[in-house]
Parts: sequence; C-alpha cells; structure tokens
Amino acid sequence: MKNQFSLEDKCYVLSGATGALGGSISDYLVENGAKVVLLGRSPEKLKKKKEQLERIAEGNTITYLVDLMDEDSLKELKQKIVSEVGAIHGLINLAGGNVPEATLKPGQSIFDIRFKDTQSAIDLNLYGTVLPTLVLGEIMAKQGHGSIVNISSMAAKQSITRVLGYSIAKTGIEMFTKWMALELGSKFSDKIRVNAIAPGFFIGNQNRKVLINEDGSYTERSQKILAGTPMGRFGDASELNGTVHFLLSDASSFVTGAIFDVDGGFNSFSGV
Ligand SMILES: NC(=O)c1ccc[n+]([C@@H]2O[C@H](COP(=O)([O-])OP(=O)(O)OC[C@H]3O[C@@H](n4cnc5c(N)ncnc54)[C@H](O)[C@@H]3O)[C@@H](O)[C@H]2O)c1
Repeated sequence: MKNQFSLEDKCYVLSGATGALGGSISDYLVENGAKVVLLGRSPEKLKKKKEQLERIAEGNTITYLVDLMDEDSLKELKQKIVSEVGAIHGLINLAGGNVPEATLKPGQSIFDIRFKDTQSAIDLNLYGTVLPTLVLGEIMAKQGHGSIVNISSMAAKQSITRVLGYSIAKTGIEMFTKWMALELGSKFSDKIRVNAIAPGFFIGNQNRKVLINEDGSYTERSQKILAGTPMGRFGDASELNGTVHFLLSDASSFVTGAIFDVDGGFNSFSGV
C-alpha cells in the first residue's frame, strides 16, 4: 500500500505563515517535500521566510501579500492562486492570537472591557479564519479535494482569565470547523475535510510578555498554566507537526469535523 502520509508534491496554503507556529509548520512541510503558499501582511517577513525555505528546497515556496480581513483582496488572491499555482491540497488557518488592547489587565473586571477591542479580537481570531476559508475553500470545492486545518485554543475548552474576545472567537472556530466539515463533505466531496487543532500553551511572540518576565523567569500566569498541564511544560512549536501532517495527508481520509488537543494534557486535567 502506498505511504498514506506522503506530502511529496502536495501544495498547502498557510495563513499566519511567518508567525511562531506557522513558521515552524512551513519548515516541516517543505522539509518533507511539500510546496507551500505563504500568506502574510509584511513583505519583509515573507521575503525572509521564503529565502530561508528556499535553502531547504529550491522552488517550493510561493508568497502572497494579503490582508485576511479584506474580502476583495482575498478574492484577488484566489484568482492568482488558481492561475499561478493550480491545484492546492490544503489550507491551514494560522493567523490569529491575543490582541493586547482586548486583554484585561490584572485588577480589571469585565466592566472595564472596551467593546471595540473585544470585537477586534473576535474579528481576527474568528473572521480571520472564516473569510479565507470561504474564499479559498471554493478552490477545493471545485477541485473536489482538500484538507482544511483550523487552529482553536484551550480558551475554547475552559474559561481562561483576561481574554474574552479571543475565547469567544476560538469557540466559534470549533463550531465553524464542524459546520464546514458538514457542508463540504455532504454537498461537494468526501475528499474535502475540515478539522481543527486546539494547541495548549506554546511560547510565541504574541504571548511571550504575559508568560516570561524580563529576567527570563516564568510569570505567575505561566506557573498556573504549568500547574494545570500534566506534562508540566510548554509545548515546542515542532510538536504540532505530527498532528498537522496526519490531518493534511491521506492517512486521515475518514476524519472530518474533529478537534485535536495538542496540549500536554491540559484539557484532560481537572487541576486537582
Ligand atoms: N502560541 C500559542 O501558545 C497558541 C496556543 C493556542 C492557539 N494558538 C493559535 O495559533 C495561531 C498562531 O499563533 P502564533 O503563536 O504562531 O502567533 P503569531 O503572532 O506568532 O503569528 C500570527 C500571524 O498571523 C498574522 N496575522 C495577523 N493578522 C493578520 C491579517 N489580518 N492578515 C494576515 N496575517 C495576519 C501575523 O502577522 C502573524 O504572522 C493563532 O491562531 C493562535 O491563536 C497559539
């Protein structure tokens, strides 16, 4: 039987591709023979990432500058992908993260939240996945195949202090994942699948300041997270690769609408 995990010559589109998790997943995909289409907002970051990936495998990386919150530029992007790239085998929606203005400061309460900040966290973390999936998902619906992977969070599983907008958005991501799995699988093809990964805690740019003090020690918040994580440590970005690989490849051909925790046990632990 052919290796069901092969990513050779497959082409995957990634949003948030220059971020902590997206950058690491891009490396892994290119190292394993896939082509990647990286979406980002910063020309400098995209150029740097492409140069780094070209050193791993020449000619396997295409980059596009796009604001994922802008429907018109996403539609233009769709046309470019169809004419310049051709078939795509999957989309990983990685853009997102905490929005500092929407994060309650210690000592603040729910009544200190400014609605527009919470709304901007929801826009990025929910519609920043919904919109690209609706526009680019149509390419996969027309082709009749593709694997979409969304990124949820532990904030969709348990209430996590300070991040209301983020939590509402990630909860929405989980239902959107199930809903798209139903819609695409039942009306287009059983070869189009939509799943999500709910990462536990990984240190990245967007959360470094709330997790690590200036002197390098863990903040009080970090210590609480680690006490609630049976493995007692943060994840390393590379530890998402296995689940991403499984979901993108034919090895998961009967898996759709599922959410996979990659969290060192955080979601399974009562904390007691
Ligand atoms: N790091 C963690 O511990 C963790 C845990 C759970 C979930 N997540 C989720 O994983 C995903 C990636 O997180 P990360 O840690 O790599 O974050 P990151 O901040 O390092 O990367 C996010 C990327 O998204 C891009 N982006 C944001 N808004 C955009 C827009 N409008 N258009 C185009 N690009 C845009 C940013 O430029 C950045 O490159 C996010 O959805 C985050 O919520 C992260």
